[in-house]
Amino acid sequence: MAEQQNKKRIFSGIQPSGDIHLGNWLGAIKNWVALQDAYICVYCVVDYHAITIPSQAAELHTRIHNACLDLLACGIDPEKSKLVVQSHVPQHTELAWILACFTSLGDLERMTQFKDKAAQHAQYVSAGLFTYPILQAADIAIYRADAIPVGEDQLQHLELAREIVRRFNNRVGRDILPEAKDIVTKGARVMGLDGASKMSKSKNNYIGITEEKDAIWAKLAPAKTDERRKRKSDPGNPEDCTLWSYHTLFTESEADRDWVRAGCVSAGIGCVECKRCLLENIDRALSPIRERRREYAADPARVEAIIREAAAWCRDEAEITMRDVRAALGVRA
Ligand code: AMP
Ligand code: TRP
Repeated sequence: MAEQQNKKRIFSGIQPSGDIHLGNWLGAIKNWVALQDAYICVYCVVDYHAITIPSQAAELHTRIHNACLDLLACGIDPEKSKLVVQSHVPQHTELAWILACFTSLGDLERMTQFKDKAAQHAQYVSAGLFTYPILQAADIAIYRADAIPVGEDQLQHLELAREIVRRFNNRVGRDILPEAKDIVTKGARVMGLDGASKMSKSKNNYIGITEEKDAIWAKLAPAKTDERRKRKSDPGNPEDCTLWSYHTLFTESEADRDWVRAGCVSAGIGCVECKRCLLENIDRALSPIRERRREYAADPARVEAIIREAAAWCRDEAEITMRDVRAALGVRA
């Protein structure tokens, strides 16, 4: 228990906006799993972030449940970590309002994720999409988290979160909210199957972590490879092939990797053979995830209990922070 008290805190979040894919897994969630022993971890399905773009109630409800199942399947261990749904802890949004009063418009306007998403949803850009990073800052501060594991694309939001907390602390004249460090998964930016942009839920260029072997093959088989390989007899360059980047992530055997690389540059093997080898290796990596997901999916009451227990713990922790924050502001003493 004493050891538990001394442990530092980790927080991270993921939107329930569709299937969790290889990019999320390698860029973030694998790291979440690895950190569970050394830290007190809160991992959050951020459903209030998901409504910053149009959503349907029934679909969102299913996606929240699926995101929880996917995270458990990936190895988030409810014995070690808290798996929580953001809307179950109302203090997140309470703190977000307060922090909004300590955030400048100029800072929000610089956010590249906002610019990208606003362009994607140009017909209606909600104020919620604009203030999204403030809710993210509140997610982190409410648990007084020390460190935040994320992919590189979230660094700008985390820098702003620290800025907001600094401004809050300065204005109230006390260090009430800590500044959280980032733990970035370096070099794990996974490209999409289209080879044109990073793997992303919104671009439909992804392999989901719970997809079955035949579904993975249906995506790998037509995937673009090095354009120089028009025929099997044309040699290619693995550095110009998205599928090779997947081999570097999934093909553990050095002999297999050498075989693929040498076969590509010498036209000794065709892209289909390269893809078949990759299929086996991706499938081997995902098979325990699918297995665990089936177990949890078969026991909804257990999943429900895990989420409920985490939410109760999180509300208590969040309330400790909010008491200090409210007192520092002079409200609701
Ligand atoms: P999102 O899918 O945008 O909710 O992202 C959830 C987490 O996965 C964040 O920490 C991202 O940085 C990470 N992530 C998303 N897509 C990728 C990708 N293609 N490669 C690496 N990390 C990613
Ligand atoms: N914005 C993050 C993403 O798109 C998700 C997120 C919400 C988050 N709140 C967070 C990540 C707090 C880390 C910490 O991936």
